[in-house]
Amino acid sequence: MRIAQRIKKIPPYLFAEIDKKKEAAIEKGVDIINLGIGDPDQPTPAHIIDQLTKSVRDPKTHDYPPYEGTKGFRSAIASWYLKRFQVNLNPEKEVISLIGSKEGIAHVFLAFIDPGDVSLIPDPAYPVYKTGTLFANGEPYTMPLLEENGFLPDLDSIDEDIAKKAKLMFLNYPNNPTGAIANKDYFKKVVNFARKNDLLICHDFAYSELAYGGYQAPSFLEIEGAKDVCLEFHSLSKTYNMTGWRIGFAVGSQEAISALSIIKTNVDSGIFKAIQEAGITALTGPQDHIPELINMYTQRRDVVVNGLNQLGWNIEVPKATFYIWVPTPKNMNAIDFSNYVLEKTGIILTPGIGYGKYGEGYVRIALTVDVPRLKEAIGRLKKAGITYNG
Ligand SMILES: Cc1ncc(COP(=O)(O)O)c(C=O)c1O
Repeated sequence: MRIAQRIKKIPPYLFAEIDKKKEAAIEKGVDIINLGIGDPDQPTPAHIIDQLTKSVRDPKTHDYPPYEGTKGFRSAIASWYLKRFQVNLNPEKEVISLIGSKEGIAHVFLAFIDPGDVSLIPDPAYPVYKTGTLFANGEPYTMPLLEENGFLPDLDSIDEDIAKKAKLMFLNYPNNPTGAIANKDYFKKVVNFARKNDLLICHDFAYSELAYGGYQAPSFLEIEGAKDVCLEFHSLSKTYNMTGWRIGFAVGSQEAISALSIIKTNVDSGIFKAIQEAGITALTGPQDHIPELINMYTQRRDVVVNGLNQLGWNIEVPKATFYIWVPTPKNMNAIDFSNYVLEKTGIILTPGIGYGKYGEGYVRIALTVDVPRLKEAIGRLKKAGITYNG
């Protein structure tokens, strides 16, 4: 069998080693606390499930859905955008449904990147931006996310020739894995950069609603003129605890939506209509579970940040996402530290190197386990004498 070169280009799965160690620990009967999972532990709100069970019984939902999303779902997205960001969208031309935002993120590269074309990709980052580029036989150019720059790419340090050559840039704020946020002034600079270099900005906004203390993450499309140069990717996964349902959407540039739509019509056949009806309920129905969710993650975040800071860390309280980006102790790289912590305490952390080379020296903690388990985790670290010495 002769497997395609593009498969061989995909970097090895860096979490494989830790997965093996996890399995071995479970077999030995270790009580694992898994802080590695970026998947909400709470159920989908009941009113959304009720809508699905109703819709699924309606035979009108059983046929092929429209490729780009039902009119109802796309209108619900446009209404949500207007209410949440005061951004007007044409539901027919500037909105497309996705089978989870991951699907759209992976496919947008096929719509924009020809062999040898450059994409500007943050590092550390959600791995699909890089693999999406590689699947399209493009060249990913790394934009390091450094703590001293607030984990924002330094646009001035991007090589001018590369910038001119690049077709597309990916950004993601609130950010996975660093928990960083970006303000509108930064987005304005990015829009100018995109205009100057004629490139598409893809903004991954999966964590748009997971923000603390009244902070509201801005949409890229709030910036004047951004709609001409930007696609924004959204997910119902984290806001409505719907990761398994596979529903998301992209909004923005009509030209980019139409290009993505050409790829998608040839690859998939849309989202099950009953799920789209539940999606309409999610976006237009009661939203009171969101402040409850934020409250829950805030309590968890504070247990972890305060707990680690008592053990010598000096972690700033993140303003958004359910991740904490934690520097590893001196002389320990991300994999060694994750392995050491697993061995000594049964706690699983995600090594930052899994998100790119600039993730080295960090581990990611996901706040997807409850407060008693997080307290137990901090207690175990303390008992094992694991502290920060950086
Ligand atoms: C930054 C980021 N983008 C996109 C996604 C994909 O979300 P989904 O495909 O469930 O919409 C994730 C999932 O963890 C993520 O962390």
